[in-house]
Order: sequence, then structure tokens, then C-alpha cells
Amino acid sequence: MQKTKLPAATRERLLCAARKVMKNAYAPFSHFRVGAAILTSKGQLFVGCNVENSSYGMTNCAERTAIFSAIAEDGPKLEICAVAVVNDHGVPISPCGACRQVIYEFGPHAVIFYQGKRGPKQSFIIDLLPEGFRLK
Ligand code: THU
Repeated sequence: MQKTKLPAATRERLLCAARKVMKNAYAPFSHFRVGAAILTSKGQLFVGCNVENSSYGMTNCAERTAIFSAIAEDGPKLEICAVAVVNDHGVPISPCGACRQVIYEFGPHAVIFYQGKRGPKQSFIIDLLPEGFRLK
């Protein structure tokens, strides 16, 4: 399977966009702001932040916000090459299980940049979500 390799400058651009949008998060319950940026196969960049809700389960993660915005903006033929995720606590988080499945749907070869326990990390989505579910 072909995996995406990205130049350091592209990774920095994504991380920078994720940090910027993180500031827009609506996180009054967890006080944990998250920002995400995705790079598409067309070279477009889309961003998203987490949006919480009084009914906690309705919360939308930053990664899914970015992906849904991309589709709303440019249609359903989305191909995700890379995703960057940051948070305002500087703690290790990789995309949650639900977001992994959504990333996989549109980017089975995508690379994910996030904060690991020992500094910045990158992983391919297929390593974060082996045997991801697909209908097509
Ligand atoms: N969150 C994200 O936005 N992305 C993730 O991958 C993990 C968790 C958000 C959801 C919630 O608003 C807050 O972080 C705490 O769980």
C-alpha cells in the first residue's frame, strides 16, 4: 500500500494552521481546546476545532470538524493526505477512535501528525486503525 510522505515545511504549515484554529474551540466543559488541519490531494488545507455541547455526547472533535468542513466546502470527493492535531495543553493526543474511522474513510493512506509522549509523532492512519471498516 502506498503511504504519503510529506516535506517538513508542509507538516509545519499544517501544524501552524491547527494551532491557529484551536483558539476558536468551544470547550467550556473539558477546557481542552483541540485544533486540526487536513491537507487534501488537491493541495487544499481545511481546519477544524472541537465543539462541545451541554449534552456531552454531541461533542464534535476537531478532526471531524475539519473533515466535514472540507466536504461542505469542496464536495464529497475528498482525499485526505495528511492531518495535524494539536491541543492547548501540549499533551499527547492522537485522534480518537471515531475520528480515526472518519479519517480512514477519506484518507486510507493519510499520515497523522500529533503530540506523542516523547515529542512530536507521525503515524499512518492504517497503523492507528488497522482493519478499518469500509463498505466500498
Ligand atoms: N477531542 C478532539 O477534538 N479530538 C480528539 O482526537 C480527541 C478529543 C476533544 C473532544 C472534547 O471536546 C475534548 O477534546 C476532550 O475530550
